[in-house]
Amino acid sequence: MIPHSARGATRGGSGKTKMRRLKWPPSIASTPRMDYTLRPATLEDEPLLHGLIARSIRALGAGDYTREQIEGALRGAFGVDTNLIRDGTYLVAAAPSGLIVACGGWSRRRTLFGSDARAERDESWLDPGVDAAKIRAFFVDPGHARRGIGRAILEASESQARAAGFTRFELMATLPGLRLYEQSGYVARAPIDYPLGGDLTITFVPMSKP
Ligand SMILES: CC(C)(COP(=O)(O)OP(=O)(O)OC[C@H]1O[C@@H](n2cnc3c(N)ncnc32)[C@H](O)[C@@H]1OP(=O)(O)O)[C@@H](O)C(=O)NCCC(=O)NCCS
Repeated sequence: MIPHSARGATRGGSGKTKMRRLKWPPSIASTPRMDYTLRPATLEDEPLLHGLIARSIRALGAGDYTREQIEGALRGAFGVDTNLIRDGTYLVAAAPSGLIVACGGWSRRRTLFGSDARAERDESWLDPGVDAAKIRAFFVDPGHARRGIGRAILEASESQARAAGFTRFELMATLPGLRLYEQSGYVARAPIDYPLGGDLTITFVPMSKP
């Protein structure tokens, strides 16, 4: 694990746990219950990430999507984009045991979403002076949801992208993801029905910040 310097949660007046703002690198998300370390994903993590992503969307997406939509999206719309790992822009959060419990990141390439298996890809480089960095593929283990990990990875991703010169961000949100991104300042555009094959579609929401 990367050594970390920022540790500990503070309590707001409401008594609700507040996460402290995180810097990258290194950074850590902390709750009264558990500390999480953020680090760049490696290709060795990839097999585990497949399981984590499937587990995450099957549980946390069940209120918004049907089983057929989730399984269809796991064939390309959701999954690991190994270019992000190679670029060093995909992060994982590890519990104290070392177990990876969340992933997410950003990209300096044009592809907006999807795994290596998705056909529609554009791996060309973005221009930080003109283009928005892409926020990519956030998935939290259901047993570790609502502990601030998604927000911590998002802040670390934005911070890393800003350090690379980007000032704007965009993403394709799932319906569960929409709630995280809205509270982080992202603005939704009209939802789209993304085709999954046959008559099956899934609703995604393009979002941008600022
Ligand atoms: C979306 C997701 C990544 C959020 O991760 P998370 O670690 O649980 O989110 P956080 O704990 O950091 O939440 C930060 C804030 O986002 C909002 N939020 C996150 N999940 C929410 C939910 N299910 N309902 C309402 N608000 C939610 C809240 O404002 C929350 O702050 P609070 O807990 O203080 O109220 C997670 O639900 C997930 O993995 N979903 C399935 C996969 C998916 O759809 N990923 C998005 C791809 S675009």
